[in-house]
Amino acid sequence: MDIFEAIRTRRSTRRFSDRAVEQEKLDKIFDAIRQAPSWANMQCWRIVAVKDEGTKQKISEYSFVEKIFAPMGYKANPSQKGLAEAPVVLVMCADPAGSGQVRGQDYYLADIGIAAQNLMLAAQGQGLGTVFVGLYDEDEIKKLLGIPDNVRVVGLFPLGYPRDDKKKDGPPRKAVDEIVFNEKWG
Ligand SMILES: Cc1cc2nc3c(=O)[nH]c(=O)nc-3n(C[C@H](O)[C@H](O)[C@H](O)COP(=O)(O)O)c2cc1C
Repeated sequence: MDIFEAIRTRRSTRRFSDRAVEQEKLDKIFDAIRQAPSWANMQCWRIVAVKDEGTKQKISEYSFVEKIFAPMGYKANPSQKGLAEAPVVLVMCADPAGSGQVRGQDYYLADIGIAAQNLMLAAQGQGLGTVFVGLYDEDEIKKLLGIPDNVRVVGLFPLGYPRDDKKKDGPPRKAVDEIVFNEKWG
């Protein structure tokens, strides 16, 4: 698949079939993550790949904990079921000290964002689906997976074959002239 087609056709996948993900496809995704650019090439990303049914079920439970998220105004996490049913969940982590921090900007988040897009496009290019899940109880996920205190969990990525392969348009995007300024802001 051409890179522009992968970018254009990628959509968040939130429901998955029970078809297993082939190891070669998973390996290609891991390699795509490795190839991402990062602050001073420090490659702060670490990934915990979870296939165990009980562990995925727990991750799913922690993706919406009412007493934490309802007061913040969230009613649900639309990926909660998908985290339990996807054959693999990739838990993307980083040690913030393993990347740059300047002007108060933590570049580990940029590093992980780029690696995450490589992950998502590598999935799309191989007929797989995934979604960046940013809402979860980080403390519980860290306890569950034995992730050290200094490491942040930046995203969860349920991964598998989409349950419904109908092509859907994603939510609308801003027009180019709303997001690009010529020469000066505004
Ligand atoms: C940083 C980040 C966090 C996100 N967190 C969640 C989430 O917790 N649950 C979910 O269902 N989708 C989540 N999404 C997916 C977005 O809702 C989705 O990408 C957006 O609506 C655009 O839709 P599309 O990916 O189908 O193009 C997240 C996306 C990003 C980039």
